[in-house]
Amino acid sequence: MTSALDEVLHAELLAVLQSINLGVLLLDSQCRVVFWNDFMAIHSGKDSDEVRGLVLFEVFPELPRLWVQKKMDGVFALQNLAFTSWQQRPHLFHFPGSRPITGLTEMMYQNCTFLPVIEAGVVKYVCLTISDATDIAAQQLELERLNQLLNEEKSEQARLIRKLEDAQAQLLQSEKMAAIGQLAAGVAHEINNPVGYVYSNFSSLSSYVEDLFGLIKTYQDAAAQHPDATLRTQLQQAEQTLDYDFLQKDMVDLLRESRQGLERVKQIVQDLRDFSHIDSGDWQMADLHKGLDSTLNVISNEIKFKAEVMKSYGELPLVQCLGSQLNQVFMNLIINAAHAIEQPGTIWLETGTEGDWVFVRVRDSGSGIAPEHLARLFEPFFTTKPVGQGTGLGLSVSYSIVAKHHGRLEVASELGKGAVFTVWLPRSQPPQPSPPEPG
Ligand SMILES: Nc1ncnc2c1ncn2[C@@H]1O[C@H](COP(=O)(O)OP(=O)(O)O)[C@@H](O)[C@H]1O
Ligand SMILES: [Mg+2]
Repeated sequence: MTSALDEVLHAELLAVLQSINLGVLLLDSQCRVVFWNDFMAIHSGKDSDEVRGLVLFEVFPELPRLWVQKKMDGVFALQNLAFTSWQQRPHLFHFPGSRPITGLTEMMYQNCTFLPVIEAGVVKYVCLTISDATDIAAQQLELERLNQLLNEEKSEQARLIRKLEDAQAQLLQSEKMAAIGQLAAGVAHEINNPVGYVYSNFSSLSSYVEDLFGLIKTYQDAAAQHPDATLRTQLQQAEQTLDYDFLQKDMVDLLRESRQGLERVKQIVQDLRDFSHIDSGDWQMADLHKGLDSTLNVISNEIKFKAEVMKSYGELPLVQCLGSQLNQVFMNLIINAAHAIEQPGTIWLETGTEGDWVFVRVRDSGSGIAPEHLARLFEPFFTTKPVGQGTGLGLSVSYSIVAKHHGRLEVASELGKGAVFTVWLPRSQPPQPSPPEPG
C-alpha cells in the first residue's frame, strides 16, 4: 500500500521536477550528470538520457571549470549551499538561442544555486538549479542605462548653469566697469581744473615766499647794523616772539609737502583720466616685446632688489594697439607683482599666441590673492595696501585699457601661491562700423 503511494508520489514529483520553469541538474562528485529536467533539455537541445554520465564540462565547454569545481568541492566538503547571481556571472551556461529573447538581450541571464543533496549524513549529489533572470536583468540594466543618461544630463546642466553664471558675472563686471568709467571721467574732469590752477598758483606762491624771505633777510642785515640799540632789541624780541627761525624753516617744509600732495592728486586724476580713456593715443602696429622691455627698463629700480625677472617670450606678430597704454598695463602688472613679493622672488613674463589671439602673462611667486578679493580686484580704489602706498587704480586702469583693445584681462591666484595675470589681445581690431550714409 505504502509502496504504491510512494510510487504515485514519486511519479508526480518527477512530473513537477520535469515541468518546473527552472533548470535542475543532479551532479555527482566528479561533476558527472546524473539527471537533468526538461528545462535543461529544451535549452541545451539535449535529452537527459543523452548526457547522463557525461562530465558537465564536456556538455558545456564554456563553463569556467576551475570556478565551478571549487564551488562543487565547497558544497561537498561544507554541506552548505552556494549561489551565484546574474550580476556576478551573467551567462554561466551558454544555451543556444532556445529562448525567445527579444530586444537587445541575446543570452539568458541566470541565477544559479548549488544545493547539497544529503544522504546518511554525507553529500551524495549536488543539485544545481538555474533560474532565468533575463526579464529582471534587462529591466535593471535599462534602468541603470537611463540613470546614467540622467546623470550625464544632470552634469551637463550643471556645466551650463556654471557657464551662465560666469557669463552673467562677466556681464555684470563689464557693466559695472562702464558705469564706473563714466563716473571717473566726470570726477576727473571736475577735479582737473581746480587742481590745475591750485598747482600753478602754488608755484607762484612758492617763489613769492622765497622772495619775501630774501627781503626779510636784507632787512635783518640792515637792522643788525642799526646804531639804535633799543630798536635792535625790539626787533630781536619781535623775532623771538614769532619764533621766526622755526617759522621760516617750517614754511619751506609745509610748501614742499603740500606740493608733493598736489602732485599725488594730479597723478590720481591722470590715472582716472586714463581709466576712463579721456585721452586716447594713436593705434599702431606694435611689437609688444619692445613695449615690455622698455617698461621693464623704466621700472627696473622698483623691482631689481626684490625679484628676478625671467622672460620666456614666444613668437609674436605685430599687434594693433595703443602702445603707450599697453605699456601702462604691463607696468601696473609688473609693479603689483613686485609689491606682492616679500622675500626675494621671481617674476615670470611669458608671451605667445593662440589662434588669432596673443597673450602676455605676468606671473609671480608672491603672496597671492585671497578668494574674497579676487572679484573686487578691478574695481577702482580697491587696494589692500596701506594708506598712501596704493591707490587701487592700477588694475582698474589696466582692465579698461585691455577692454578698449577688445581683449580680456584674466587673473588666477591662490593665497600663498603667487598670482597670474594674463592679458589677451586680438591680433587686429575689429573694423569700426562705418558711419551712417548722409541723407
Ligand atoms: N600680483 C599680485 N599679487 C597679489 N595681489 C595683487 C597682485 N596684483 C594686484 N593685487 C591686489 O590687487 C589690489 C589692487 O591692485 P591695483 O589696482 O594695482 O592697486 P594698488 O596696487 O594701488 O593697490 C592690490 O592692492 C593687491 O591687493
Ligand atoms: Mg598697483
